[in-house]
Amino acid sequence: MSYERDNIRRMHAYEWGEQPERDDVLKLNTNENPFPASPRVAAALASIDIQDLRRYPQPTADPLRAQLARCHGLDVDNFVVTNGGDEALRLALTTFVEPRSPLGTLEPSYSLYPVLADIQDAGKLQIPLGNDWEIPRDFAQTLNEAGANLACIVNPHAPSGTLIDVDTISQIANDFNGVLLVDEAYVDFVDPALRHDLLRLVNAFDNLLLLRTFSKGYALAGLRLGYLIGSSTLIAPILSKTRDSYNIDFISQRLGEAAISDRGYAEETWRQIRSARRQLREELISAGFRVAISQSNFLLAEVPLDFALNAAEIYQGLKAQGILIRYFDSPLLEDKLRITVGTAAQNTRLVEAINKLLGA
Ligand SMILES: Cc1ncc(COP(=O)(O)O)c(C=O)c1O
Repeated sequence: MSYERDNIRRMHAYEWGEQPERDDVLKLNTNENPFPASPRVAAALASIDIQDLRRYPQPTADPLRAQLARCHGLDVDNFVVTNGGDEALRLALTTFVEPRSPLGTLEPSYSLYPVLADIQDAGKLQIPLGNDWEIPRDFAQTLNEAGANLACIVNPHAPSGTLIDVDTISQIANDFNGVLLVDEAYVDFVDPALRHDLLRLVNAFDNLLLLRTFSKGYALAGLRLGYLIGSSTLIAPILSKTRDSYNIDFISQRLGEAAISDRGYAEETWRQIRSARRQLREELISAGFRVAISQSNFLLAEVPLDFALNAAEIYQGLKAQGILIRYFDSPLLEDKLRITVGTAAQNTRLVEAINKLLGA
């Protein structure tokens, strides 16, 4: 006898990246930041007193929202803070997707989206990306025809790392009748020379939500802190109705404030990751892989057919040597490997291990 709702019984669970038990494993499988968080975050953590935890935290994390508003040049009403970006996604579904209407996504993309749609018992409209990871021209029209209330785009795209430009996003926001959520989990790693900035669209489109996280850019994946940016009409129902009363604990609020107050420190880690990304891409190309240009903190390496080993075998071979990368056994990704950019020294260890495996 099962007591689960039908949709929960039928659905497949999200598969998270492996968590190694040994400290000497090189973990390049879940796009964490290889550098530690700012020393100010460490100091804020050390300053927390047990008495601080006796009371409930500020319910809507207002001091952190105010700081985010100053940092991004927007209003406090444009922000809601969440328990990681993942909670932001779940809240967007709860708030905007009508029962059984479809969640629009692009395929492939973040594998949590269809899982959240299944939990909500929403439909799934998974629209394939083009060969160069481009969004189909009729994306908004397809969403409208299917009656989608919410669509999620990840930009820079995961797992390819490619960037969709601001004009394309504005056009989709303009043409789509529902809420367009742009998941910017990796936006901190975009080359500043590209001047890519969706924040300026927030006041222009009342149907646009941007997702950000402290997990990647601020090296705080273990904290679980993220936020949504959008027009106050989109943010208000999440803030006051669908969010858990105290979704952000006291410690996360304090540490988030410390991280934002030292953005310069984080920016320096982003610069180093961009430089390591450039070098790692060149080395992978020299080893014979095809690698899309990435604006994220990972690279997607395609294994050519004439290689001695296929993608799954390279993944297994590296794992046996204590190096974890990500392999997705799905039709569009089965010949590819997603590799988190580590420090220069970590990347050297990875490339040496790959070359050894391939007998170079
Ligand atoms: C595309 C994308 N969006 C959102 C997230 C959520 O991150 P978090 O819940 O750690 O903030 C991730 C995490 O890997 C991601 O890859």
